Parts: sequence; C-alpha cells; structure tokens
Amino acid sequence: MLKSIILAAGKGTRMKSEKPKVLHEIFNKTLLGYVIDAVNNTKLADENFIIVGHQAEQVEEFVKSNYSNAKTILQSPQLGTGHAVSMVLPYLNNYYGNIIILCGDTPLITSETLKEFVEFHKNNNSDITVMSAIFDSPFGYGRIIRKSDNTVDSIVEEKDASPEQKSIKEINAGIYCIKWEKVKNAFTELQTNNAQGEYYLTDIIKWGNNNGLKVDAYTLKDNEEIYGINSKSNLAEAFKMLNRRIIKKHLENGITIIDPDTTWISPETSIDTDTIIYPSTYIEGENKIGRNCKIGPFAHIRGGVILEDYVKIGNFVEVKKTTIKSNTNACHLTYLGDSEIGSHVNIGAGTITANYNPLTKEKSKTVIEDDVKIGSNSVLVAPVKIEQGANVGALSVITKDISSWALAITRTPLKIIENWVKMKK
Ligand code: UD1
Ligand code: CA
Repeated sequence: MLKSIILAAGKGTRMKSEKPKVLHEIFNKTLLGYVIDAVNNTKLADENFIIVGHQAEQVEEFVKSNYSNAKTILQSPQLGTGHAVSMVLPYLNNYYGNIIILCGDTPLITSETLKEFVEFHKNNNSDITVMSAIFDSPFGYGRIIRKSDNTVDSIVEEKDASPEQKSIKEINAGIYCIKWEKVKNAFTELQTNNAQGEYYLTDIIKWGNNNGLKVDAYTLKDNEEIYGINSKSNLAEAFKMLNRRIIKKHLENGITIIDPDTTWISPETSIDTDTIIYPSTYIEGENKIGRNCKIGPFAHIRGGVILEDYVKIGNFVEVKKTTIKSNTNACHLTYLGDSEIGSHVNIGAGTITANYNPLTKEKSKTVIEDDVKIGSNSVLVAPVKIEQGANVGALSVITKDISSWALAITRTPLKIIENWVKMKK
C-alpha cells in the first residue's frame, strides 16, 4: 500500500470567500473530498496526509469528520510546495514505499488516471514520476525541461523561465509519485533561491537527477483532469466539466437526455436504460432511478431518492429522501420529502408532503400505499399514512391516517349564490 500527500494549505484569495478554497463544493461534495475520494477509489493507498494552513481548523474539521484514513498536518507559515511536503517528514521517518502527491484544488482527477500513473511509475521502476500535460497555453505552469535523450531534466516555474523555456508546451500537472525512502532527503536540502523565494517541490526533479535517481514523466491524456480551481469562475467551469463527463456516461448507457446543457446529474446518481431526462432538471446527491422513467422538465431531485421503473416526475416537482415504486406519477408542482410511495399511485398537481415541523425541528414520514390517488392541492401532514387504494379529495389537508379504499376529504362545501353578481351591481 502506498500513501498520499494532498496539498491544501494555500490561500485561495481569488475565490473571494470566507470559506477555505478546498471546501467549496461541486454537487454537494467539497473539492478536497473529490481528490481524497479519487485516491481512495484507487484502493492503492492506506493513508492520506492532508497539508493544511490557511483556515486550517475548518479543513481539519472536514477531514476528521469525513475520512478515517486521512490525517491533517499543519503547515505554518506556508513557504512553498516543497516545504508543504516536508511537513510529513516526522510522520514517515521509517516509511519505505511510494507516495503520491496531489493538490486539493484539482477535483476532476480520476482514480483511473491515478491508477495508470502509479502503474507507469512502478513498471518503469522510477524513483520520481511527475505527471505532465501538453497545453496550448502553458502560461502560469511549471515547464517540463527534457534532456536530449528525452528523459526529464528539471521543472522550471513560469516566473523563473527564460523566454525559450516559456515556449515549452509540456507543463507540470502538479501530481507526483515518488519512492519515499530514496527521495525524502531532498526535502531537507531544498533551497529558496528562486523568483518566489519558496521551497519548490518541483526542485526534487533536479535533485533526483543529481543524486542518480530514475526520473520520468507520465503524460496525461485528458487535460480536464488537472483543471485547478482558483476562482469562482473556475469552480463553475469545473462543475460543467464534471457534469458533461457524467452525462456522457449516461448517454452511452442508453439514457435519453434531451438537453445536456441544462441537465445536471450528480456523480452518485444511477439511472437505468430508457429513462428520459427532460431539460432543466437538477439531480443532486445519491439517487437510484429505474428504467423507463420520465424526469422533468424542471424537476429537482435532491438526494436519497429511489425511483422504480415507469415513474414520472414532472415539471416543478421536488423529491427528497423518498422511495417511489413503479408506475407512479407526480407530474406537476409537487413536493415529496421523507416519503415512501407505492406503485400505481397518482399524486395530483400541487401536492405537498408537510414533512417538517418548524417548532420541534423534526422531520416525519409520509407513507402512501399502492393504488392511492391524491387529489390536487392536498397537504399530507406527516407523520401520516394513506393506506392502499384510498382516495384523497382535492384541496384536502390530511392530518390522520386514512384506511384502505376510503375517501378522505376536508374541502368546504361548494356554495353557489345565484345572481349574486347582478345583486351587487
Ligand atoms: C505548482 C507547481 C507548478 C505546476 C502547478 C500545477 C511548484 C513550485 N509549482 O505551481 O510547477 O505547474 O503547481 O498546478 O510546486 N500549497 C501548500 N503550501 C504552500 C504552497 C502551496 O499547501 O506553502 C498548496 C496550494 O494550496 C495548492 C498547491 O500547493 O493546492 C499548489 O500550490 P500553488 O501555489 O497553486 O502552485 P503553483 O504556483 O500553481
Ligand atoms: Ca505559487
């Protein structure tokens, strides 16, 4: 098993936020969460070290409450990426094995790529492997300097690069795999004689060459994977990139998505074949959607939702923590939360499950059994159960359980006063 180091101590000034940069979210998951998950999903690492600095407490809190195999290490002050990695020295004094180093602000890196990267490093018997990428506009990145035999010589940062070096399009993606026992001494020897006066992690490449180590680069296939978040506009762009990736997968799996540009589907949502997702639908959190369902347009699925086959969720319908069995329809203007709904149920337009009591702050459950029909504009005040086949008349407020095949109706009787308008004139 190897270990990972994830750098997350930097400031993130350009986010213009009170929140630490790596705790910003895409589909309710933090940027740092994506990176840790990508590493964990490789099943190659047994321990992750997260280097924290700016707003450390909040990041520590997040890591502690979400990841049992991750440990935060404080870097203060932040003297550069090389200094950041050196923070693990006291913890890994006697460790023999590989370490992958990543940044906490590149959420789109995939576990497939990380696996391939580590595989490359191992097969190649390298001591240091850096991930590189070919960018048409390499501005701002460290450039990969190759020797005449095409092996990697060093990395030169934009601010230290000569005009000739700046024209190099192969950049440092900021992900490394290193044989720890061979490279750890580099971290006590790094210097700050560079344009930024920092300890550069990138200098381990030159150090490796000077110390007879095997240094190599693995070139990334999909540049989107190392897209870094520095601003809210980067965050929006990354959100789109991730969404496009997810939608592509669903389209390949036989899901019809009418308008990929206005459809948002979280990574933790599974959808079965022949389901159609209509435009302007937003699906977040963990959900399981069956076959032949119709979702949207303008539907909002908020997580914890399980839809069996042939379920219709129509326009302006919001569903949260709800299970719906097959052939049930909720086609218009409805909120279904904390509910269990049977099959062949019709939920009329404007139905609301009143699941939240603002006084006790408790949420309660609504159970609707098979074949129930709920009339339009009804409020089901939870906890409540509507048993099989019962009907609820339109505009009813249901505060008690309704027995099977009964009709429940709370509507005031219709009053017609003939010629009322003429009398008023
Ligand atoms: C770094 C690389 C550059 C590469 C680029 C890829 C160095 C010297 N340069 O540049 O070659 O092309 O990443 O994105 O490494 N961090 C700390 N502590 C510090 C400084 C930084 O934890 O003291 C963290 C940051 O939070 C960030 C990561 O390290 O997650 C990278 O730091 P950043 O300053 O963004 O590096 P770049 O200048 O982009
Ligand atoms: Ca920097």
